[in-house]
Amino acid sequence: MKREPAVERVIFSAPEIRETIGQLARTIARDYAGQPLLVLGVLKGALYACVDLARALAVQPEPPGPIELDFITASSYGGSTVSSGNVRIACEPQTGIAGKNVLLVEDVVDGGLTLARLQAFVQERRPASLRTCVLFDKPSARMADVPVDYRGHAVPDQFVVGYGLDYQESYRNLPYLAQLRSWVFSQ
Ligand code: PRP
Repeated sequence: MKREPAVERVIFSAPEIRETIGQLARTIARDYAGQPLLVLGVLKGALYACVDLARALAVQPEPPGPIELDFITASSYGGSTVSSGNVRIACEPQTGIAGKNVLLVEDVVDGGLTLARLQAFVQERRPASLRTCVLFDKPSARMADVPVDYRGHAVPDQFVVGYGLDYQESYRNLPYLAQLRSWVFSQ
């Protein structure tokens, strides 16, 4: 595969991420077998994680069902590499949340302020249950104590892109998680 020139190092390859999504789907399917589930992805970062997870759930021996898919848009980083701490919900889900089993899907938890805000948003709408799935976790960066029920990869506390994660809106479409070369940040 041709490597993006701005990439210094691949942290998790596309096959490794696919394997992890499969493991997460197996665990989640066991917990919700035969039960309706609203999979709520957090845009923009969790776009790929959410779509790939929802499809992986569908091929489990006893999948949850029916599965609804919707998105919520939250943003706190703007163009910066550091969270502003001011979490803005820019776009609410169109699907009702009350009385449903909700699975919140995040690409990454860093300080945890975004997830704390999102979990409160969902809880205020009285779901039957709420669990959270996070593909990449940076536990050493945590500022807020947020519950995470399904965790993919632990990631060192460094700036990473790919598989939904961006730097100034670029590199989200890389199929792997990577560290960027330092010249990218001085451009
Ligand atoms: C990123 C990421 C998480 C959040 C995690 O979103 O997708 O939602 O930051 O950060 P935290 O744990 O420190 O709060 P961002 O605000 O950059 O928006 P994006 O998903 O559109 O890239």
